[in-house]
Amino acid sequence: MLKNKEIILGVTGGIAAYKTVELLRELSKRGANVHVVMTQNAQRFITPLTFQTLSGNPVLCDMFQLLEDSKIGHVALADSADLMVIAPATANILGKIANGIADDFVTTMVMATKVPVLFAPSMNVNMWESDIVQRNVERLKAHRYEFMDPAEGDLACGSVGKGRMADIEEIIEKIEDIFTTKDLTGQHVLITAGPTLEPIDPVRYITNRSTGRMGFALAKMARRRGAEVTLITGPHYLSVPRRDIPQIVVNDAREMHDAVAGCFDDCQIVIMAAAVADFRPQDVLEEKITKRKNGSYCLEMEKNPDILKELGEKKRNHILVGFAAETSELMEHAEVKLQEKKLDLIVANDVTQPGAGFGVDTNRVKILDAFGKVRTVPLLSKDEVAHIILDHVVKLVKKKEKDRPWPRNW
Ligand code: C5P
Repeated sequence: MLKNKEIILGVTGGIAAYKTVELLRELSKRGANVHVVMTQNAQRFITPLTFQTLSGNPVLCDMFQLLEDSKIGHVALADSADLMVIAPATANILGKIANGIADDFVTTMVMATKVPVLFAPSMNVNMWESDIVQRNVERLKAHRYEFMDPAEGDLACGSVGKGRMADIEEIIEKIEDIFTTKDLTGQHVLITAGPTLEPIDPVRYITNRSTGRMGFALAKMARRRGAEVTLITGPHYLSVPRRDIPQIVVNDAREMHDAVAGCFDDCQIVIMAAAVADFRPQDVLEEKITKRKNGSYCLEMEKNPDILKELGEKKRNHILVGFAAETSELMEHAEVKLQEKKLDLIVANDVTQPGAGFGVDTNRVKILDAFGKVRTVPLLSKDEVAHIILDHVVKLVKKKEKDRPWPRNW
């Protein structure tokens, strides 16, 4: 997503300037061409040479420095960029820009550019909470400048509170957000992820190898594309995909069933990426099962509700997407599930293939739709696979919008 993007990184005089080096490296790793501009104060925290070496581009510090072709430096760069990021952004830079002061390279470039500008503020908690800084932030937001809220924690000045520059990962996520077409705005997407745990006794359970990564990738990408996302997940060891995705954690299939049923009416799209257990132990014992003298133990199982099948029965204008994790006869099984569960799409993957399925960051899938079309997706990261699945969902949303009879009540 950031490949060949021209990004101007404005660095101002805060202690978090050392973290901006990491931000630059992450942007470059993703293929962006980064041009660093620094204020005088920023150079007291970190040298231009560090940024120059890592970006491979000259670092601009002086207002009257001209680029090679003798164009006015700030105007030339501001024109050719795709995005400007100010990290860290001090109270001083926010105040200057909010009040139209352009007296150094960074402020001048912000005024001169028409591309989106993202601020990642970093300062003492009292400064951040002061009425004046907050007024400036509000004023800048009203002019459509983008902001990364500072994080809470230990601050360099010794106090604790809100004021740390947002994590680099979150800044990158926000930058990718800015570059993403918001084609799911107005849609509420319910996504399930992970395994379910079906208890046997107080210490044992039956589960499967799902880690939740595919569902989490879908949640992150759907949110990035503008959807309101609710994530219902079985137990997992992943970090939350984004702070702005509400997450409901459930244990077993029946809990997942109830959580999904509670959200179904409020959403337009359901993507069931969870590996829901088909069966559960019939009786959950109150005491731990002890070792048997004869060495064998028979566990009676009963069927869990098929959540997706139930949704297929009661769907109105919803778009339903299921997953089929198979070990043989991939297409045959996927087609049966697509029809039986009345799905709009099914994502089929052969979990015996290397790099596909459970516990890995990649997947190789086939996407089947209700019109008989099949798309084969090669081995890609789960984030990329998520985007391709969502591309298909967006096409279906557009088709449903077109076909819906007037008046277009939900
Ligand atoms: O029938 P099968 O379990 O293979 O179907 C897989 C699809 O159905 C997945 O999308 C899964 O999330 C969903 N499913 C469900 N309830 C179950 C079992 C599977 O919703 N009890």
